[in-house]
Formats: sequence, structure tokens, C-alpha cells
Amino acid sequence: MGEQNQADTPVIDYEGSDYRQAFWEGQGREYEDMVERAALRQLMPMSGDRIAEIGAGFGRLADLYTGYKQIILFDYSRTMLADAVSRWGSEDRFIFVAGNVYTLPFASGILDTLVMMRVMHHLADVPTALAQIERSLHGQSVAIIEYANKRNLKAIGRWLLQRQNWSPFALEPVEFVKLNFDFHPVWMAARFAEARLRTERRFALSHFRLPFLKQRMSAETLVGFEQKFFALAGNFPLSPSVFTALRSSQGREKRVGSGDLKSVAALFCCPYCTTDELEQRADDLVVCPDCGRGYQRRNQIWDFKEPILRK
Ligand SMILES: C[S@@+](CC[C@H](N)C(=O)[O-])C[C@H]1O[C@@H](n2cnc3c(N)ncnc32)[C@H](O)[C@@H]1O
Ligand SMILES: [Zn+2]
Repeated sequence: MGEQNQADTPVIDYEGSDYRQAFWEGQGREYEDMVERAALRQLMPMSGDRIAEIGAGFGRLADLYTGYKQIILFDYSRTMLADAVSRWGSEDRFIFVAGNVYTLPFASGILDTLVMMRVMHHLADVPTALAQIERSLHGQSVAIIEYANKRNLKAIGRWLLQRQNWSPFALEPVEFVKLNFDFHPVWMAARFAEARLRTERRFALSHFRLPFLKQRMSAETLVGFEQKFFALAGNFPLSPSVFTALRSSQGREKRVGSGDLKSVAALFCCPYCTTDELEQRADDLVVCPDCGRGYQRRNQIWDFKEPILRK
């Protein structure tokens, strides 16, 4: 156990963002959404006890999780979560949690399935995020993690035509816009291995993110064709997006927790001192038995960004 500094690594700010409207709704991205769903359906168990999506945003993909008994939507942005609450908040099995993946407030071994989509490309400190993710898994869990691939056909073409100054073949991540990174599959594979996350399957997808194709062919047609070779293409990814199914090699015991929404304390750890299992002091308040910090639920969102009590 030790104090963690929450402010060390910069985090992209989605507070108040219109991501849903500006990026997804009516923006001609039906193909991107559909191909991600098709890959997730192939890689993740569609039912189980507890699933969490890290960086879930407004809950775009949450309808895929309804085979689970408990569904945790976790994000740094409270406003994105508030949007998710407005859609899913009436269902008891949904838990909404605001926090930082670098200090993930989940007790170790608590998750059966973890999903992280379109988040890695915002992470300046991949090893810390992966270490936290690994800690939340048990021996039978699966984590489906997506990352943006710098070695994609468009980037290779642009580089060959000298329209891009970074090499898609260089292993180190490229930050093409502040807090937006593309990663090399070989570099990512090394980070997963270092975090003791064993890659079980790897898919390459979203090859057809091209306006001229999307205008001429339906998303169904493109995805119907592409989903047949997700795994084959994953042997040597040249697509903008890569999905990996990972398992922890630590063999940690599964921690069940209470599963009861009225006492969720056993699901959490203190993001400051990493103590597993907090104490439930009220329906909407859990407290760390070691450092005395308290975390509150407001408007259905558990807030692990700002503790409210000191001993
Ligand atoms: C591009 S959005 C993707 C949302 C959702 N996964 C989807 O695919 O629709 C990225 C999300 O990651 C969240 N995020 C970024 N950095 C984070 C961090 N350090 N901890 C938790 N969430 C983070 C952002 O707040 C944002 O909601
Ligand atoms: Zn604590």
C-alpha cells in the first residue's frame, strides 16, 4: 500500500464534451460502430456476473452487456457518465463510477470481463493503466482492449508519399495531437506482456474507414465481409484499430463482492492508498478504513475523483 498521486499524468478532458453528437450521431460512422460491435461479440463472453467498461463514455456499447448480472460503467468524465445514467440509470444492475484508470478504484480480482474501447489512444502512461487493469482481473477473467494502430495502410501510404513525418514502422507511440496516440502492435504486445496480460486472440478491424467505400456499400455489407477475416488480419495488423482479448497470468482468486447495489463497498478499493474493500457508511457513502477518505454517490455516480472526508 502507498499513497498514489492522482495528478501525475495528464488526462484528456471530456467534461462537457459533445462527443456523442459530434462524433457518432448522424456523423456517418455506422460502419465503425457496427464493426466494433461485431468484433466484441466474437471476443467477449456475452453473459457472466460482472463486467466493467473502462472509459465507457456515454455508454454507447452498454446494450452489449445486458447478459451480465452487474454492469459497471467507469469514466473520468462526470458529464459523459451523466449521459449514460440518463439512458441506463433506471436499471438496478448498472453502477456508474467516476475515476481515473491510473488509480482504478476497483478491488483486485473483482471483474469477470473488462472492456476498454477507444481509450488507449488517450493514455500517456500505458504501463500504469495496464497494471491497474490487470489487478482488477482474476484467473478466469477476460479483458478486451482496443488500441489505435500506427502501422495502418493509410499511415503507411502517407509516409511513403512524404505527407507524414513519422514512420508507421517505428515502435514507439506517436502523439499526433496532444493526448492522442497511435501505437505499434509490437510495442503494445510488449506492454501487455510486461503487465502480465497474456494475449489470447488479436483482431485487426475497421479496414474500410474510407468515405468512398462507406458511401457505396452498406455498413452491413462491409462488416459482413470483414468479420470473416478479423483473426486472420490480426496476425499482422495493418488496420487503424486492433482488438486484443487478454487474460491475466497471475491466477488471482475471483472476488465476488456483495453484488448488492445497496452495499457496493466490497467492489471498490481506495484510489489513494489502494486498500481493497471499503466500508459502507450509508447508501451513498463508502469510506476507506485505512486513510479515512470517503467517496460519495451523487446523481447515481460514485465519485472517486474527489474524496470527501479525512480522518
Ligand atoms: C473516445 S471516448 C470513448 C468512449 C467509449 N468507450 C466509446 O467507445 O464510445 C474516450 C473516453 O475515455 C475517457 N478517458 C480518457 N482518459 C481516461 C482516464 N485516464 N480514466 C478514465 N477514463 C478516461 C474519456 O473521459 C472518454 O469518455
Ligand atoms: Zn485510503
